Amino acid sequence: MTPEEKKQQVAKAALEHVVPGTIIGVGTGSTANCFIDELAGIKGKIDGTVASSEASAERLRGHGIPVFDLNAVDAISVYIDGADESNHHLHLVKGGGGALTREKIVAAASDRFVCIADDSKLVDTLGAFPLPIEVIPMARSYVAREIVKLGGQPVLREGFTTDNGNIILDVHHWQIEEPVKIETQLNQIVGVVTNGLFAADPADILLLGSDNGVKVVE
Ligand code: A5P
Repeated sequence: MTPEEKKQQVAKAALEHVVPGTIIGVGTGSTANCFIDELAGIKGKIDGTVASSEASAERLRGHGIPVFDLNAVDAISVYIDGADESNHHLHLVKGGGGALTREKIVAAASDRFVCIADDSKLVDTLGAFPLPIEVIPMARSYVAREIVKLGGQPVLREGFTTDNGNIILDVHHWQIEEPVKIETQLNQIVGVVTNGLFAADPADILLLGSDNGVKVVE
């Protein structure tokens, strides 16, 4: 199977986790896009969605699926999104598409986080994929120096602005052995809006597309 076929396989499997008659949270990226396309087939069963990016909101609306502002809803039953990496504890690296802040907010506001990915995303140690960090633009140099002190090598994502008007630093060459600790340390740096580690509050279940069918890690 190609990676694309695995994403489609896992996006279909995620439909089983959609709770009928509720609002669901929808993530961002190519796997989330596959899920949005699948969701279109059962859109009458849900009350609507909250999206983690302008791009996903646009795709959802294109299918005629209602998209609500997070402040307009009381509860989100489940958040369904991809990841750039997951370890076996379901600690994730996210933000390759730059939507990490809204992803973390919608995930936090949801009762349950179902992560969907192809099986290449499961790793023993996080960090081969550069860790995205959303930063207030005026703090860029200061935050970069602080990240170097922690052991990372930050690189500005050129020509990219987040949906929130901020920049992204991608941190390379970092073997993240203690994801919860690093997530907390990064959050302490003034000027950091969000970091792409989802470890203190990890996914609840990981569905992996593979040649041998959908694997479930929980
Ligand atoms: C978007 O900001 C990311 O967090 C994506 O969810 C993540 O990068 C996975 O993307 P793909 O499904 O395209 O691999």
